[in-house]
Amino acid sequence: MDAYLTVVSKREVREYAPREIEPDAERRILEAGRVAGSSKNRQARRFVIVRDEGVREEVASCVYAGDHVRGAALVVAIVVGGKGPTAFDAGRAAQNMMLAASNDGIGSCPNGIAEADRLREALEHAEEERVATVLTFGYPVRSRRDPQSLAPEEWVRRADRRPYREIVKEI
Ligand SMILES: Cc1cc2nc3c(=O)[nH]c(=O)nc-3n(C[C@H](O)[C@H](O)[C@H](O)COP(=O)(O)O)c2cc1C
Repeated sequence: MDAYLTVVSKREVREYAPREIEPDAERRILEAGRVAGSSKNRQARRFVIVRDEGVREEVASCVYAGDHVRGAALVVAIVVGGKGPTAFDAGRAAQNMMLAASNDGIGSCPNGIAEADRLREALEHAEEERVATVLTFGYPVRSRRDPQSLAPEEWVRRADRRPYREIVKEI
């Protein structure tokens, strides 16, 4: 798929079809995150795939929208630690993963964390680390999310975003 179309058609998908993600597609998602750039190439982030059903329920109870986690085909927590702009670096990895998924027709959504301490226990990460976000992935229930269904300009026009002139300034 055209890279610009992939980028501008990306919308969060919160409801997932009961369909597994193929291992190759899953690998592409994780590799897309792994190759994302980072400050000083520190790569101070890890990706935790939550496969265990019990841990998944724990994670679901620690994010704001637990049903995204319960319904997802793939759940990935981005764990960061150390110095530098870790939130920015996590964001770059997260968006890379979500765009790679989208390119394979797979939807995704970042999930905000409501209970960081309990989440640390569930994922067993170190005290000096934290979870930047929990990404949920799965094939969309609704076909109108198909990026190819609209031209890039139309995806841009329909986006629920502040106007160009408000966001972009020239000096
Ligand atoms: C750090 C972060 C946390 C988010 N947490 C949630 C969340 O808990 N639940 C949710 O439905 N969406 C969550 N989102 C998704 C935003 O709501 C979404 O990016 C925004 O509404 C734009 O959606 P759209 O691209 O589908 O228009 C989160 C996004 C970010 C960046």
